[in-house]
Amino acid sequence: MERPLRLGFIGCGEVGAEKHLPAVREVRELEVVAVADVDPERLRSVEARYGIRRVHRDAASLLADREIDVVAVCLPPRLQVSAALAALEADKHVWIEAPIGLSLPDCDRLIARARASGRQVTVGFHMRWHRLVRQAKEIVDRGDLGTIQTIRATWNSPRADDTLPEWRRHRAQGGGALVEVASDHFDLWRYLLGAEIAELFATTVDGRWEDEAAIVSGHMSNGVLVSAVFSERANHDLELEDLRQGGPAASVPDPLRGPRVLPDRDDAQQPAGPARTHGPLLEGAASRPSTHAPGRELSSLVLRSVAAVCAEHPDGNAHGGNAP
Ligand SMILES: NC(=O)c1ccc[n+]([C@@H]2O[C@H](COP(=O)([O-])OP(=O)(O)OC[C@H]3O[C@@H](n4cnc5c(N)ncnc54)[C@H](O)[C@@H]3O)[C@@H](O)[C@H]2O)c1
Repeated sequence: MERPLRLGFIGCGEVGAEKHLPAVREVRELEVVAVADVDPERLRSVEARYGIRRVHRDAASLLADREIDVVAVCLPPRLQVSAALAALEADKHVWIEAPIGLSLPDCDRLIARARASGRQVTVGFHMRWHRLVRQAKEIVDRGDLGTIQTIRATWNSPRADDTLPEWRRHRAQGGGALVEVASDHFDLWRYLLGAEIAELFATTVDGRWEDEAAIVSGHMSNGVLVSAVFSERANHDLELEDLRQGGPAASVPDPLRGPRVLPDRDDAQQPAGPARTHGPLLEGAASRPSTHAPGRELSSLVLRSVAAVCAEHPDGNAHGGNAP
């Protein structure tokens, strides 16, 4: 076996330390050799929990480590692109959380730099790499479901007021259910259906922070209607369902119709733990094609939704708007 890819994490917050680090430890082809975070408490915790000895107080000193092959960028959204550009400059492959950045020019700068560098940039689309979503995609592509008419989702992921990072309270900084949660579903729809989002309507409501809940609906370029409710306040709930025309029923293995498709470590459908959810994002990162183009499209959709929501009701508590 070739030696494992050596990873360095920039950002040890919820995603870096709680989701990806435990997952990556279960993937033999990967080895986390260093982490960086501006918060010394986070570094201490990661060092103690995962035994990672090379800890850096800033990204630059991690990037100077010549042993690192791939840099995972798990920073607040406004810092992501500059960190990824610096990683490319340091001749590393990059794995970057979605959405890539908070402006399309930023996304374009990263894409142009990635193309010129010959390094890979892969975007952390955690939905499209989930093994059950992959299985669902095969079923859809085989035509086992007949003609899909609509997809409907509910994703409630409540967050605690006292530990919520400041950036998550502000839409413009990438916080709220529209940017943080809906974006994953935009990518999921595009991936599952192999079609573009043709029209989108988004409505949000503010609470203690902006866009605590959002409803989105629209249609895809192939005519499928899509709708979803997202909340960072309501109790946990995950549901993803397709409603089809015709098509065979219960005997067909059909993760889309299962009660729980999405990550839940205690769920009987997730016996292999988080590595099966998050690990595949990174496996073979250096040999895979870059995924920055769908990453740009995703950012574009998110930004247009946010702009539509803001334009419709700039000062109100409830916002609604079309993002064609
Ligand atoms: N949490 C999720 O479920 C989720 C899901 C999908 C995508 N994402 C994306 O992942 C990224 C990270 O999200 P998160 O929830 O882990 O955020 P977070 O705020 O919990 O963690 C960010 C970490 O970055 C550190 N940091 C800030 N500035 C830094 C700097 N200049 N150098 C080094 N470290 C620095 C912070 O101290 C913190 O530990 C975001 O871009 C987010 O949009 C998160």
